[in-house]
Amino acid sequence: MTQPVRVLFVCLGNICRSPVADGVFRQKVAEAGLSGKIIVDSAGTGSWHVGHAPDARMMRTAERHGVDISRLRARQFEASDFERFDHVLAMDRSNLADMLALARDTSHEDKTRLFRDHDPDPGDGQVPDPYYGGDQGFETVYNIVDRTCDALLEELRARHEF
Ligand code: 4NP
Repeated sequence: MTQPVRVLFVCLGNICRSPVADGVFRQKVAEAGLSGKIIVDSAGTGSWHVGHAPDARMMRTAERHGVDISRLRARQFEASDFERFDHVLAMDRSNLADMLALARDTSHEDKTRLFRDHDPDPGDGQVPDPYYGGDQGFETVYNIVDRTCDALLEELRARHEF
């Protein structure tokens, strides 16, 4: 049996953007029958919310779309994640820079990129931080994450012949 592919989504707090990417992608992977082949996790570059459930506004938005992220708990990104994951996907350029500052090796840099590099309609390449805005921001994040996760899954299926 081949090794599973391991995907890590990373934002700042690990309570809004990366948990919804984690939940949405995990659900798409399960629906495709690939749960043993693609391992999904998320983390934040910051430590403020470690151990917390996702933001209630993000949980409600995900729930409206049929995705339950209530059991996820925030954790902080650490340098050892570069060894444990094959694809490390940052929600914005600040998250990307903060992670690359911890990279010890070109292989760490090579597997780390913007999540929206996979988005067919990538805009400015970043998932906007919804934390200080209104409910519409969470819906915008959901829509970006949903279509980008579809494209990411297709890319992984093609690359790894799942
Ligand atoms: P996230 O959103 O990075 O998508 O989880 C944020 C959550 C918390 C904070 C900022 C962004 N904060 O400043 O506490």
